[in-house]
Amino acid sequence: MITSITPNLKLSKEPLFSAQEIAERIKSLAAQIDRDYHGQEILMIAVLKGSFLFVADLIRAVRTPTIIDFVRLASYGSATQSSGIIEVRKDLEMSIKDKHVLVVEDIVDSGLTLESLRSMLLNRKPASLKICTLINKQSQRITDVPVDYIGFSIDDGFIVGYGLDLDERYRGLPDIRIVAGV
Ligand code: IMP
Ligand code: MG
Repeated sequence: MITSITPNLKLSKEPLFSAQEIAERIKSLAAQIDRDYHGQEILMIAVLKGSFLFVADLIRAVRTPTIIDFVRLASYGSATQSSGIIEVRKDLEMSIKDKHVLVVEDIVDSGLTLESLRSMLLNRKPASLKICTLINKQSQRITDVPVDYIGFSIDDGFIVGYGLDLDERYRGLPDIRIVAGV
């Protein structure tokens, strides 16, 4: 069932992932992260802007001591398709050398954004580097970038809400919805 939110855009009436499902999934991801890190301090690197709500909930759900920094990447391309050319719009403020880095992403789609971020971070010699994404679009992957923690997997379709945008809109929806006709 599709409902019209703006004249030009149609979002699914029912959420693909409800706020409650997201909260429950984050609880179990956090438990998995706590087991894996054994209390070692984590440096979460949130990739702006899409992961701002996810990282806010994840950092409150883990019990492992955690520090946080932010990176802002821009990928050239259309609103819905990454081109693979990545620009660092805002770099980290902290050194990641010898830190246990956990990259927190909104969506891994082609994997091009993450692949280029991963090699940039590995050059800075962290003690370890893992990747956590809220959404995995496995069928769209064109790189073999390893993803260690996955919130939800979907095949395709463009989604918005809970931080995810379409041309900067809909980030504030508390749940995740499918955009029709993209
Ligand atoms: P990739 O480089 O193709 O993996 O692109 C990943 C980035 O594209 C994500 O971090 C998102 O910012 C954006 N993206 C990909 N699919 C979607 C979607 O369905 N909704 C919103 N943003 C998306
Ligand atoms: Mg985005």
